[in-house]
Amino acid sequence: MLTMATKMRAAVVPAAAQKRAAALREAIETHDHNYYVLDAPTVSDAEYDALYRELQALENEYPALATPDSPTQRVGGAPLPEFATVRHAVPMLSIRTETDTTAAGALQFDARVRRDLGLAPNAPPLEYVAELKFDGLAISLRYEAGRLAVAATRGDGEVGEDVTHNIYTIRAIPRRLRTDKPPVVFEVRGEVYMSRKDFERLNARQLAAGQKSFINPRNTAAGAVRQLDPAMTAQRPLLFFAYGAGETRGWPLPKTHAEVLDTIEKFGLPVNRDRRVAQGAEALMAFYEDIQKRRSALPFEIDGVVYKVNSLALQRELGFVSREPRFAVVHKFPAEEMPTELVAIGVQVGRTGAITPVAKLKPVFVGGVTVTNATLHNEDEVRRKDVRIGDTVIVRRAGDVIPEVVRVLADKRPPRAKAFVMPTKCPECGSAIERLPDEAIARCTGGLVCPAQRKQSLLHFAGRRALDIEGLGDKLVDQLVDDGIVHTPADLYKLDHAQLVGLERMAEKSASNVLAAIEKSKQTTLARFIFALGIRHVGETTAKDLAAHFGSFDALMGADETALLDVHDVGPVLAKAIADFFAEAHNREVIKQLRAAGVHFAEGSPRRAASGAVLGMTFVLTGSLPSLTREEATALIEGNGGKVASSVSKKTDFVVAGDEAGSKLERAQALGVKIIDEAGLNALLSGSASTRESP
Ligand code: IVH
Repeated sequence: MLTMATKMRAAVVPAAAQKRAAALREAIETHDHNYYVLDAPTVSDAEYDALYRELQALENEYPALATPDSPTQRVGGAPLPEFATVRHAVPMLSIRTETDTTAAGALQFDARVRRDLGLAPNAPPLEYVAELKFDGLAISLRYEAGRLAVAATRGDGEVGEDVTHNIYTIRAIPRRLRTDKPPVVFEVRGEVYMSRKDFERLNARQLAAGQKSFINPRNTAAGAVRQLDPAMTAQRPLLFFAYGAGETRGWPLPKTHAEVLDTIEKFGLPVNRDRRVAQGAEALMAFYEDIQKRRSALPFEIDGVVYKVNSLALQRELGFVSREPRFAVVHKFPAEEMPTELVAIGVQVGRTGAITPVAKLKPVFVGGVTVTNATLHNEDEVRRKDVRIGDTVIVRRAGDVIPEVVRVLADKRPPRAKAFVMPTKCPECGSAIERLPDEAIARCTGGLVCPAQRKQSLLHFAGRRALDIEGLGDKLVDQLVDDGIVHTPADLYKLDHAQLVGLERMAEKSASNVLAAIEKSKQTTLARFIFALGIRHVGETTAKDLAAHFGSFDALMGADETALLDVHDVGPVLAKAIADFFAEAHNREVIKQLRAAGVHFAEGSPRRAASGAVLGMTFVLTGSLPSLTREEATALIEGNGGKVASSVSKKTDFVVAGDEAGSKLERAQALGVKIIDEAGLNALLSGSASTRESP
């Protein structure tokens, strides 16, 4: 109710201010809708903020303008002593969960519905709506004459808590329905949730402020909605998805659930796009599998999907069993996080000697597989998470990611839980384990003496993206190394049939296959060979860059650090690692043996000639030249001993500029690098121009 005084103040708000405030409100609501519902913002954050601040300023000047449904009121009002209760006009139900966490769960639901409807086995498929099962807090939004009047939690399904003021702070939820003819009553049911990104950001902020971090997006969202102080809720980045309607009055009920969702969306509320009208059980199974694959790429967490009979008439016919609708079901995905006991902490030695602490677990079914080992990443992580032997821990396996220990259930810690001590000696070779002062990773210093490192190097060498030796897996490599048959990759090429057949689980046929694969691997490419060597920091891309730059293996091996720095994307750390690798006598010996064994690669014509008119000079090409393509110009320069770089520096000798040359030309001018055109380049190449600056 407006008091007399407020009414009088309202009366003195100039018409222009009223009009401007209304326009700003409208604009802000439209931008909220574009952002949260259509997922297609049309203004920048800065533009949005400017509108918001202008409205705030107007409302400060004329408080009568600050109506409760103004977007500025989303910051939250005064705290409540406790929540009022709300009786739901239509109860908020929960749905039965299908226990089968394979796609077949959909078949069971469909079979039950068909049986409950008394359908003949050969009756046509039923129509369903498949949706995501959001993982947040269920909310009922009651719009009266188009205005958000009450927002309530589910509570016990009959009576919930009145969280209207908290819900007002959520920008994804409109205060008014976007329609000229709003129903008398329209209740939207849905889920308040938090995106993964917002959750991570929030936790980073908490951490920076020295505060406790939150456990997961769902608890955080639920906790935020159930705050007595709306100002606290306003600080949490909450979102919303609608999935159904509650009580409606003055609204012609459509025939299907899909139409209900479409209307809610038209009214301006967010309805998730990943919903599908599906004909029959097979379509539901396809939906389940599709969403399961995309689950980890979704911007928010879900724990399954929901199937609903599409026809509202059939929904009514099906009715309920013990307060659960027969027409809908939750079909969960296998859990990605599960608790289990950590029985020991071991360490694993990687190819470069990196020591990774690994949790040995009581077997647990998580993410669809049985997990017995989970990574603890490194020593600091073990300390940060305070993981101890004997603890009950939460293990996570999402998608194809290596299982990891997420956190400890501190209240389950037994009195004798033991802290992890990083070993000082490598468990595989007994060499010292060393951790450099500013590195997170401890390493075994044994190098190729260490069988673990040797095994990993061999597996890397034989890997699909390296020399691609099919059949040389970890079981075989373990035996070859442990029995002392293979020490280096070169030894692989000395293997014979009898040796292999003597090994466990090695039949005649598989021995022949492995030998054939080894033979085949002799013919490879320069880039693969470089990658296969396992030089520290040299991944596939760098290997390709090195191969393209040097053109031959001998040129690469002979390059010093300065020459290596000329390679695209090679910095000092990488240059040193490469130079160190080739300086090592042992490595040179292995390479010599590999090549003697017949490993060879088609060495593309070396890109740099050993002599030529522009020997040792660096060029940068920019713009389009009148007759030469970029590739032709590059080939000409390299064929004459020069080099083409991608960016201009003081080391650049010439910039060859054509039409529409851009920033490289400007940079050349700024640095005083010589600029020539195509004719100038031709003159240089033919040796008719002086490459020295005339005094
Ligand atoms: S429909 C009559 N659809 O899951 C059906 N619920 O037990 C009423 N949930 O807490 C619910 N996503 O909040 C429905 N797409 C979805 C849902 C969904 C999440 C929640 C709901 C409730 C529980 C169902």
